[in-house]
Amino acid sequence: MNMITKGTRIVILTGAGISAESGIQTFRASDGLWENHRVEDVATPQGWNANPQLVWSFYQQRRRQLLDVEPNPAHTALVDLENYLDNFLLITQNVDNLHGRAGSKQLIHMHGELEKLRCEQCNHIEIMMDRDHLGEELLQCTKCEGRLRPHIVWFSEPPLQLLEIDDALSKCDVFIVIGTSGNVTPASTFLHIAKFEGAHTICINLDPPENVYFFDEFIQGKAGEILPALVQRWIEK
Ligand code: OAD
Repeated sequence: MNMITKGTRIVILTGAGISAESGIQTFRASDGLWENHRVEDVATPQGWNANPQLVWSFYQQRRRQLLDVEPNPAHTALVDLENYLDNFLLITQNVDNLHGRAGSKQLIHMHGELEKLRCEQCNHIEIMMDRDHLGEELLQCTKCEGRLRPHIVWFSEPPLQLLEIDDALSKCDVFIVIGTSGNVTPASTFLHIAKFEGAHTICINLDPPENVYFFDEFIQGKAGEILPALVQRWIEK
């Protein structure tokens, strides 16, 4: 596609694939396990209620990992694109902080954020990433002393900011999906909303995702290799 101008309204959806080149594992390994755990045990409210310590340790490990990873050229390319355009929204399914650290501003974390913890009682949300917040012991809310849980959208819980997402999708000219298997709803349905409203749709992914046939363009490969060149071509024209 060669027709991007400053006025083109672009919405991007990213998934685990964009952070793979930073060293964060994607979700759907061939054995169906997520870092040796069943998804039901570590990514559902039922799993949390049954074994809070296990779930806490699982996410504390992911939170500590954030200190060891860096944004890659794909994250940076999206910042360049955002800076060039007048109207841009980046929606990520990722709970890591790499888009924000690269410099993305118009950013929605629809599945929550590892950096944040939320009180089960009063819903107070705080960024808690100091050394004493990253251990194995469960933490209490600083406002009401309720139990804190990861600020992560678990299976069966509603994703965040869906109204804003829907609004942006219905107005965009181009919708680009990067590094996601298209397995999880509602993120996988965004393509259909954008397409229905007339957007040009592009997918950039290492493997053809579930919904590849519905895209206008599919570019196969690593996001960190494809995106920098693509964005430079678009914004230097
Ligand atoms: P998946 O692990 O399902 O898919 C990752 C996709 O990225 C695969 O299709 C890979 O082919 C592709 N990929 C891997 N490396 C890549 C690279 N370097 N460049 C481009 N693509 C690459 O991850 P998601 O689709 O993000 O939800 O998973 C969606 C949701 O399922 C997650 O947000 C998570 C999980 O359950 C919650 O935790 C709520």
